[in-house]
Amino acid sequence: MSVAGIIGAPAPVGNLVVSLLDILYYPDPLLRRNASQVKNVDGEVAKLVDNMLETMYDAPGIGLAATQVNVHQRVVVIDVSEENNTPLIFINPIITSSEGVAEMQEGCLSIPGVYESVKRPADVRIEAIDREGNPFEMDADGLLAVCIQHEIDHLDGKLFVDYLSILKRNRIRKRMEKWIRDGADLDDLPERPERH
Ligand code: NI
Repeated sequence: MSVAGIIGAPAPVGNLVVSLLDILYYPDPLLRRNASQVKNVDGEVAKLVDNMLETMYDAPGIGLAATQVNVHQRVVVIDVSEENNTPLIFINPIITSSEGVAEMQEGCLSIPGVYESVKRPADVRIEAIDREGNPFEMDADGLLAVCIQHEIDHLDGKLFVDYLSILKRNRIRKRMEKWIRDGADLDDLPERPERH
């Protein structure tokens, strides 16, 4: 159906139209869903990527998985640069090899205000598809390696608190449930940049 000629219909301005997406909070069971492979990198996927980037920068965060905005497709956006000007897009990302162990404090936009140390492989090789539909390979270490593993976990329905003891995780879940009951006000939380 065409909307041409309808008075008041918004004019299409392509990629300039971006929307902030709502982020799901732990322990929402929707965060446990396993995301599907993206079959075609089409305009819809590009629009999702743009909205996810906008949402990530607004939060602010350094990474966001589609699962966190209740879209259960294998799409991840990351920007670990100091100036927030180097967006990385990973569609259907997989880790093809990993090496070493690194321990880093992690946070998550879906578990705001919670930061805990997690051990993961230090160096990873990633295969993914970019926003234009082109496959690529990338070697990552440091924060980027941690971030991409954290985001791929999201696509598999896994959260960084799953690496903690049951006792610690239950304490965090209760704290989150109370925060949500109290209105989920982000201003009640400490501001920290390294959330994904
Ligand atoms: Ni996260």
